Amino acid sequence: MTMTELPASLLRTLPGAYYTDPAIFTAEQERIFEQMWFCAVRGADVGPTGAFRTVRVGRESVLVTRNAAGQARAFLNICRHRGAQLCADETGSVKRTFRCTYHAWAYDLDGKLVAAPNLVKMPDIDRVAYGLSPVHVREWLGYVWVCLAETPPSFAATVQGACEERLGDLAAVERYGIEDLTVGRRIRYDVRANWKLIIENFMECYHCATIHPELVHVLPEFAGGFAAQYYVGHGAEFGPDVEGFTVDGSAGVTPIAGIDRDQDRRYFAVTIRPQVFLNLVPDHVILHRMYPLAADRTVVECDWLYRPEVVAEGRDLSRSVELFDRVNRQDFDACERCQPGMASRAYAAGGVLVPSEHHLAGFHDWLRTRLAG
Ligand code: FES
Ligand SMILES: [Fe+2]
Repeated sequence: MTMTELPASLLRTLPGAYYTDPAIFTAEQERIFEQMWFCAVRGADVGPTGAFRTVRVGRESVLVTRNAAGQARAFLNICRHRGAQLCADETGSVKRTFRCTYHAWAYDLDGKLVAAPNLVKMPDIDRVAYGLSPVHVREWLGYVWVCLAETPPSFAATVQGACEERLGDLAAVERYGIEDLTVGRRIRYDVRANWKLIIENFMECYHCATIHPELVHVLPEFAGGFAAQYYVGHGAEFGPDVEGFTVDGSAGVTPIAGIDRDQDRRYFAVTIRPQVFLNLVPDHVILHRMYPLAADRTVVECDWLYRPEVVAEGRDLSRSVELFDRVNRQDFDACERCQPGMASRAYAAGGVLVPSEHHLAGFHDWLRTRLAG
């Protein structure tokens, strides 16, 4: 049998170069991260009027702030005069304007150019046209999503569509009221692996029995290797002796008020391409945002979200955080173990997918279509 003929139970993966080639990574930034909706920052972390965050989206630095009306606004973090970076810090706040430290052009919170040395002597300068370059913004699930495309894709069809497709309907995610939850814990992981290895890993559970003993104890059906994401609407059920989604299966905290009976004692996972993983359990929500920085490096920011009173009362979240923190470390270790292999001649033509991973081929098809532009 030649390498090109595969037995029926196997499908081919992407070739290794997709995970190492800087040119492919640049194409992904251009055609994926700078074209699609990107979950940039938790809305509460942007803060009130005048507070800001800077976030890397594709190859750009994006400035996210709130205007006088409290609405989220986003701009490219670049001065329109001679291109200096406007805000050098990751976080901060201004009173009324963003003032460039080079020649002091100043922009209001809606991006309009409002002051510059000698501006009155240049009445022909249109202050909106020479204002900051706007970036499209949406707030959903309590996060600020941005899109660098001139004409963004439909938020409903792409971001919300991913939840619908996976859970059967949008109400299934909206019942968790994620916008009203509070971050109980945030951990940032600096992963030495391509972002696609992280997505592929998240989408399959063939590895669960090998590397996730704690998770498999809580969700025994994961031992079978079929990810919850394999079936529409399916959530993996807690084991009979398990009280909560915690590292030792002990009881969690107060359940989220609005969830359905069939969402109790179950774990649901959604992949929102290209960079968000949503994990839903009865008493908390875990949301991962990936920031791909290079072909072989991805920062993952993971939020554990609980009912506000649970966080305010200082309830012990350690066992609930520890479960997915361990899962994350186990997963990212595996991804980092694969990354060097992507450059090996042994992987030049790629690897193979077994039947419980066949749905990953859909992700690969999607990626190829996006890159073909
Ligand atoms: S580069 Fe910003 S004011 Fe000149
Ligand atoms: Fe995993």
